[in-house]
Amino acid sequence: MLLSTYLKQNADADLAYLLDNVMVACKDIAFRLNQGALAGILGAAGTENVQGEDQKALDVISNDLLKDTLLSSGVVRGIASEEEDLPVAGSADGKFLVLFDPLDGSSNIDVNLSVGTIFSILPAADGADGGAEATYLQSGRNQLAAGYVLYGPSTLLVMTLGKGVDIFTLDTKIGEFVLTKEQVKVPETTKEFAINMSVQRFWEAPMQQYIADCIAGETGPLGKRYNMRWVASMVAEVHRILTRGGIFMYPYDNREPGKPGKLRLMYEGNPMSFLLEQAGAMSTTPYENIMDINPEKIHQRCGVVLGSKEEVKTVQSYYKI
Ligand code: AHG
Ligand code: MN
Ligand code: MN
Repeated sequence: MLLSTYLKQNADADLAYLLDNVMVACKDIAFRLNQGALAGILGAAGTENVQGEDQKALDVISNDLLKDTLLSSGVVRGIASEEEDLPVAGSADGKFLVLFDPLDGSSNIDVNLSVGTIFSILPAADGADGGAEATYLQSGRNQLAAGYVLYGPSTLLVMTLGKGVDIFTLDTKIGEFVLTKEQVKVPETTKEFAINMSVQRFWEAPMQQYIADCIAGETGPLGKRYNMRWVASMVAEVHRILTRGGIFMYPYDNREPGKPGKLRLMYEGNPMSFLLEQAGAMSTTPYENIMDINPEKIHQRCGVVLGSKEEVKTVQSYYKI
């Protein structure tokens, strides 16, 4: 089934039109990633985003493609992006707010590994200003739709409208996404974890203990031999977990004062949590479910522990939650 047919059957007309617009931009991003060095667009942009991270040229290009497409769609009140300091207003009568990470895992661009786009769609309250941060400060439970596009060997769209998670593959012959997997469910148990071990000493004590016990394997208290993966691209990690289970963690750490954790709540934590919960998995900080957080800032960070339900609960037991 084509994505356009699926959207006609599963979303109201405005939301379907909006999601179609998001995919217009994502298909363009896929094309540019594919061109890479041929188009001279690899490497740094020479600028920093509001979070003090160096931007890649493709971070900026992807942001501009999404921003321009969405703001001219007529149905978007405003957008918020990892690469924009402040939200940008769109149409005064637009029904939707779109929050996005235009290119996730962008340290992988220059080495030709998987990257992705993450999006979260929130309702715009009547009369709310699409250019005001306060308009966007809604919990993840308000999301109308969320998903990611994974630019890997195939370009995939993984999306939820609150009725399970479905996967679409971009058929480059026809330039359309085609439904290829319905109602994804994450296995409840796993022996595979993903975490950046190089920052181990900065984690809280319970996380240090949990990972030490994973590494102790079948002779340790967890009684099983684990495997480890780290792609450094949240989209790719979440996709692996949706496909075969696992646990992904970017926990709080005290590496840099004022930055308790790396991932951002509103355009990384919330959309991924919506997908995970819709696929029968869990997503926590691990103190609380990520979608229950009431945001205070658009670029707010949160700890992330997500994946197979039983394993996430095991992590929480180390925190005595
Ligand atoms: P982004 O490229 O949007 O800034 O996000 C990168 C994130 C996430 O995708 C990944 O899980 C993590 O940062 C990788 O972190 P390390 O650099 O610590 O491996
Ligand atoms: Mn990211
Ligand atoms: Mn990014």
